[in-house]
This record gives sequence, structure tokens and C-alpha cells, in this order.
Amino acid sequence: MSAHAVLAAQTLDDCIIDQNWGRYSSEDHAIWRTLFERQLSTLKGQVAQEYLDGLEALGIGPDGVPDFAKMNARLRKITGWEVVAVPGLIPSRPFFQMLANRQFPAGTFIRSRAQLDYLEEPDIFHDVFGHVPLLTNPAYARYMNEYGRIGLQAIERKAVKFLARLNWYTIEFGLIRKPEGVKIYGAGIVSSYGEAKYVAQDASAHHLSFDLTRVLRTGYYIDDFQASYFVIERFEDLFDVLEGRDIMALFDEVRGEPTLTPFEILAGDKVIRKGSGEYWREFPGTKTKLK
Ligand SMILES: [Fe+2]
Repeated sequence: MSAHAVLAAQTLDDCIIDQNWGRYSSEDHAIWRTLFERQLSTLKGQVAQEYLDGLEALGIGPDGVPDFAKMNARLRKITGWEVVAVPGLIPSRPFFQMLANRQFPAGTFIRSRAQLDYLEEPDIFHDVFGHVPLLTNPAYARYMNEYGRIGLQAIERKAVKFLARLNWYTIEFGLIRKPEGVKIYGAGIVSSYGEAKYVAQDASAHHLSFDLTRVLRTGYYIDDFQASYFVIERFEDLFDVLEGRDIMALFDEVRGEPTLTPFEILAGDKVIRKGSGEYWREFPGTKTKLK
């Protein structure tokens, strides 16, 4: 979501490119298949059913890099959203404007075999495998739309930092509580081999009940797994907490308060699971600046 120096574009048309699906090589399709198969087995039993339903409804499978035109023909019928190809990270204004228009910007390049586990810039696997399936869920899609609308206002109020935290703890790293346990829905976990395994197998992180003000106050580190995850009960919660609230006033309120680290638990938190913190004892002091 941050501006890329090479891309000074500010209008939507400047940012949207042709996916040019025919140019993907057989190696690109093979990398997609490797990533898809490995990740789907890692997510087994751990990911929200709504996500799996979305994969199926959109025909996103192991065969190769998805063709946006084919995927969009299905997605438009389901929630009215579409995926648009962008050249990489785009500035905040067109990013929010696209979401407000029910367009999801996705990168077109795919990582190399040397980068299967981690790469800094989101590629098509992160953007499409990670983000797009849940756009078939009406409640989630409605939230994404509202997120874009609020984002445009936040630019004027110089409050994009708070939108970034909301994005981080919901769209990228959100968890949802189901009768059978806490499940993954955030795209940053869904598309990451390491973090999906960490969420499934490691008890270090706190699971806190999602609270909008709490999330807006909580900073994050971009270079490691999360120390706290925020857990929603239903996808409707995401939209419901925003509806009818003066979010800009809330940003102004939060601006005056100190930023919380993801390690702490506050007296008012609804704690679903208190993390053991073990992972952080093993790797102390490697954190970059709190965002
Ligand atoms: Fe993302």
C-alpha cells in the first residue's frame, strides 16, 4: 500500500495494466502449482471455510497462474468485485479508490523458485491466492469496499497509518473464531508457508478478541510473525464495527495515545488465548521499527 518511487501515478488508469496472461512461461505456471499445492495442504483444517468456498467458486486451482478475465467473469456475478492488474505496489489514493470501486489491485509477477518461502513485495500468489477468494463472501466484500471509502477520507485527515493497522490486523493477519476453533482468514497468513505453520502449531502469540480502537492503537512489525492476532467472530463484524461510527473522530482520539506493541495485553482485552511468548524469547531484539 505504500508508494513506490518508480510509480508516481495518481489516477486509476495510470495504475491499471493488462495482465497479459499469455506471457506466463511454463515455469511460472509450475511455480504457481508448487505454491498452491504446498499451501493448500498447510492450510488444511486451519483456514476459514469461506476462504475455501471462494477458491472453488472462482476456479482458482493448481493448474497454473489464474487468468484474471476468467476469474472476474465469476467474481463479478457473485459480489460485483473484479481483480485489476497493477504494476506493483501502488500509492494509497488509487489503492483506496479501487477498493471503493470494488476493484481489487493485484500484482502480475510471480516469485522465483528461490523465493518460495518469502518475498517482500506482494506477487500474484500473495494477491490472488491470499486475498481474492474471500471477495466472494458478501460480508467480507462489503468490508473491503468500506475500507476503501474510509481510506480516501483518511488521506485527507493524515490518518493512513491507522488504516494500515486495521488492514494489517484484519485483511492481512486476521483470524476468525468458529465452533471448531480459531481459523485463518488474513491473506498474509493464508499465502505464507511459514506464518500459516506458526499460527497452526506455535502457541507463542496472543489471540485477542477483535476490538476496533484496540487495533488502531496497536503497532506491528513487518519483518516477523505476529505476537498478537485479533480474532473476529463473524465476517459481518468487520463491517458492523465501522458502520454508523465517526471513524475520523476515532482516529483523532487514538492519535493522542501511545502506540501499543503487539506483545502486551491490556486490562480491558478479551483474551482468547494468552501466548506463551516462547518464540520471542528465542529470537529477541531482532525487531524493526514499530509501525
Ligand atoms: Fe496483501
